[in-house]
Amino acid sequence: MITTDTQAAATVEYLKAPRQFHLNNGTISYLMKVDKHGKLLNLYFGSAVPRETNYAHLVEMLHRSTSVNTELGDDRYSLEHLRQELPEHGSGDFRDPAIQIKQANGSEITNFTYQTHKIYAGKKPLPGLPASYVENDDEATTLELTLTDDLTKIDVLLSYTIFRDFDAIARSLEVVNRGEEAAVIERIMSLNLDLPDADYEWLQLSGAWSRERNVKTRHLQQGTQSISSARGASSQTQNPFVALIKDGSNEFTGETIGATFVYSGNFLASAEVDTWDVTRLQLGINPQGFSWHLAPETHFQAPEALVVFSEQGLNGMSQTFHKLLRTRVAQGYWRDRERPILLNNWEATQYDFDENKLVSIASKAKEVGVELFVLDDGWFGERNSDTAGLGDWYANKERLPKGIKSLSERIEGMGMKFGLWFEPEMVNKDSELYRAHPDWIIHTPDRNQSNGRNQFVLNLAREEVVDHIFDAMDNILSNASISYIKWDMNRSMTEVFDISRSEHHQGEVFHRYILGVYELYRRINQKFPELLIESCSAGGGRFDAGLLQYAPQAWASDCSDAVERYKIQYGTSMVYPLSAIGAHVSAVPNHQVNRVTPLDTRFNVAFFGAFGYELDLNELSESEIEQVKKQIQLVKDYRGMIQQGDFYRLKSPFEGNITSWMVVTPEKETALVGYYKTLNDVNGPYRRLYLKGLDEEKIYRLKSSDKTYSGKELMKVGFVASDASSGEYCPSNPYGTSHDFDSKLWIFEVV
Ligand code: GLA
Repeated sequence: MITTDTQAAATVEYLKAPRQFHLNNGTISYLMKVDKHGKLLNLYFGSAVPRETNYAHLVEMLHRSTSVNTELGDDRYSLEHLRQELPEHGSGDFRDPAIQIKQANGSEITNFTYQTHKIYAGKKPLPGLPASYVENDDEATTLELTLTDDLTKIDVLLSYTIFRDFDAIARSLEVVNRGEEAAVIERIMSLNLDLPDADYEWLQLSGAWSRERNVKTRHLQQGTQSISSARGASSQTQNPFVALIKDGSNEFTGETIGATFVYSGNFLASAEVDTWDVTRLQLGINPQGFSWHLAPETHFQAPEALVVFSEQGLNGMSQTFHKLLRTRVAQGYWRDRERPILLNNWEATQYDFDENKLVSIASKAKEVGVELFVLDDGWFGERNSDTAGLGDWYANKERLPKGIKSLSERIEGMGMKFGLWFEPEMVNKDSELYRAHPDWIIHTPDRNQSNGRNQFVLNLAREEVVDHIFDAMDNILSNASISYIKWDMNRSMTEVFDISRSEHHQGEVFHRYILGVYELYRRINQKFPELLIESCSAGGGRFDAGLLQYAPQAWASDCSDAVERYKIQYGTSMVYPLSAIGAHVSAVPNHQVNRVTPLDTRFNVAFFGAFGYELDLNELSESEIEQVKKQIQLVKDYRGMIQQGDFYRLKSPFEGNITSWMVVTPEKETALVGYYKTLNDVNGPYRRLYLKGLDEEKIYRLKSSDKTYSGKELMKVGFVASDASSGEYCPSNPYGTSHDFDSKLWIFEVV
């Protein structure tokens, strides 16, 4: 018998005899089956294959003399050879388990077997956690399987959603204890995907503060390759994302699998290649520092992982993630709206400002066309440096004696919106909040309390702490005209412990903290639905799909240097849409690297993001101000397509001296091409740039010129990008012809 939801283009087909599940949306297939021992096996994930077909022959069980077998008399059945969906510890599969549960008697052996399943149109939300969603039930079909460990009466509910409009599968799992004894979840991987070979290049996004999401690759090898965070946030060091690029594939062709985690806390992503070149890809909460006490009649919901399959190479994978995260993870008022052009005062003033200075910066911003003025750190409590004030969310009496309400009204009176920085999760010991509630910080009794940037983490795993922070933010937001907040989080978590909970629950604190963060975001979103939130974590330390649900944009990096940003923004674009990538034009010499880059290059880079300025425009020359006015007009004209268009990476800063990328409108009517040369070269080569995503038949005009080209020419013959770097000295015009950090913005519009 076939049970199939034929209404939706995204279907889940169940074939009863082989007990096979086929998730199919016409482009991709995800195939599983239940075997004779009730184990859920993976058959295939990739480009769509015919429905109503039995694929059971894809289960390979060869006799291997060293393997252990589940039952006497069957020397071919060994868990070690099976490509499983919920592998467990200790019964013959020696690879990393997806689930590991310690029971009352100390045993960690479980045997989860298939019991039943449900198929339904649409997708359910995950309580307390961010997740992808649908607006109509026909956008997706969900398969929910129940697997039970008979001895303990613990269930695992595995949920898979296939989307009609995205070549992606969402997977999450819930553990329910129906037994009479408590158990402890020690490991729970939201994604477990066993692939039949190891012919992949692994790509990760790694770095550090101010050097976020640089692209690193290596070929899979026997053994485990992994990235993780144990910092309490997804981190600048590693991003919760990994791509597996099939050998022979590249940016635009061939197979790529990408996985990302809809979660903002500690994570682990790994690919384990076993002795027979089978690859196990996993993504989930980092088991380091995690355990969950599962009392009888309680349950635990693990976060969602999203896995994408592309046959159009890495770029195809990125485009799927962009659209999925932008339209079905991000939500709320600002999801599809054009974002305001902002000016942030941080690099202009740091802590050295008063109301008049801010107003003078804001006036100049207004004059050139900026729409939102953002007051960063330093406006509250006794915040005269980073040693004091965090936690005291009322205006600093010396700098802003008339308060935030007065300042916000002055800014609004000038015709701009007003935005404010918060770091709600933190406290300095030198603050009224800490003096009133020293026990609210995360710390382990009788141990040293490490600090980061002189600050401590408030324990958002406690409801009363979340309530207090919400009230403090609400008080400011309700009593002034605030349209935007930058929500920062500037340190890693240490000595993690919750003094309000018993010893059984200490492994839960990292996760409960993030649940508290999500709860706070949700309450702010709910009370202030039109407030635009930009998340931040010392730059890009919490740039993940989880926070995008509540904050549709994130400050990508504290490094605002254009040349460093080639790499940061290129790497970030692997997963995240341009609408999410906070990018600003800042002053030169640059505050992080002391580099002097031309104003147009700084603009040409920030243009491809959620755009703003981060400098005092009063310090620019008249001709620079004229340039800025033109830049702002360009952003106003094209930001809609930057946010919603299709993005193509053309040349990688990790591979050479030239970086290039482009955005095309979905109708292929307009294309914006950014082209950046790092160092100038003498007597340089002739260069062609091969554009992507255009309509071959259409004729495009290069804006501000009378030159026209067919889409076919621009893509196949290429666009001549050679420049006049002749090697001759031009003393009168150091920026003439070509120079270091030179860049171009080419705009093509259909004739
Ligand atoms: C962090 C942020 C910066 C700025 C400072 C203020 O480092 O990433 O953009 O807001 O804090 O202290």
